[in-house]
Order: sequence, then structure tokens, then C-alpha cells
Amino acid sequence: MAQTQISLTVNGKAVEASVEPRMLLIHFLRDKLRLTGPHIGCDTTHCGACTVDLDGKSVKSCTVFAVQADSAEITTIEGIAAPDGALHALQEGFREMHGLQCGFCTPGMITRAYRLLQENPNPSEAEIRAGISGNLCRCTGYQNIVKAIQYAADKMAGVQEAAQ
Ligand code: FES
Ligand code: FES
Repeated sequence: MAQTQISLTVNGKAVEASVEPRMLLIHFLRDKLRLTGPHIGCDTTHCGACTVDLDGKSVKSCTVFAVQADSAEITTIEGIAAPDGALHALQEGFREMHGLQCGFCTPGMITRAYRLLQENPNPSEAEIRAGISGNLCRCTGYQNIVKAIQYAADKMAGVQEAAQ
């Protein structure tokens, strides 16, 4: 099968690779780059476990070809924490508010919430629920996921520091 050369930035690092035009982005990330945080939870583009950030938008990487990511900037869950390993406010929020059980949906959920908070730093509960409506969780019932995102929004706005 013919290969196509692509160049992109993944979690701040330049990446060059040859890929088959039919290769999905999720397979490129998981199998070629060994970034196994984005998960595959369905084959119908409805679960959102594969969500990554592509040029400032949340995308389901099972629904994008790797060649479509040529020249793009991608962030996966592996790129959300600070370079020194300090957790992002969202990761802290999910831990503090018990926003996960099995954890399978969590990388996609946090990556989606990361973009949601960039788009809307102070979302209402309804806006959070609408914002993560493309991401399914089969364990938690969502209540603590919403609380985790609210925690992160408050922390990023400095509310918790101000309250201490
Ligand atoms: S793997 Fe389910 S939406 Fe991508
Ligand atoms: S924590 Fe299990 S699917 Fe969300």
C-alpha cells in the first residue's frame, strides 16, 4: 500500500512519519507513536474515548485519517500535564471529585473538558453537560465528572486560592 509522508506536532514535539492513507489518527497515535491514552471504545464514532485536541478543536480521532492531521498541532491526554509532571487542574479535579471509576473514558473526557474550558472558562452545569455530550461514561453517572470540571474551572479562575 502506498505511503504518505506527514509532519505534525504532537504534545509539543515535531513528528514525521509515513502512513497509509487509510490509517486512522487513533491508530497512528496508539500504534505508531505509542500514545495509548486515547482509547477506542466503539466503532461507531459515538463514545468519545478517542478524543484529542487538533488545532484547537476537540475531535474524535477514530473519525479522522492520520493524513488529515498533516501540519496539525495535536494534544492528547499525555500532553495535558505540565512538563514537570504537575497535574493539570482538570486531572486534579477528576482525582479530588472522584470523576472516574474504571477510567476508560477519562482521557477523552479530560481532553474534551480541556478544550471546553478554553472555549468557556466559566461554564454553567448545563453548559458542561452539553459540552461533554459527545463523550460517554458507562460508570459514573456523570455527576462527579461535572463536579470535576467545575473544580478545574474554579481553580483555573483562581477561586480556590482566593477562598483560602
Ligand atoms: S472510539 Fe468511540 S468515538 Fe472514537
Ligand atoms: S469511568 Fe468507566 S467509562 Fe467512565
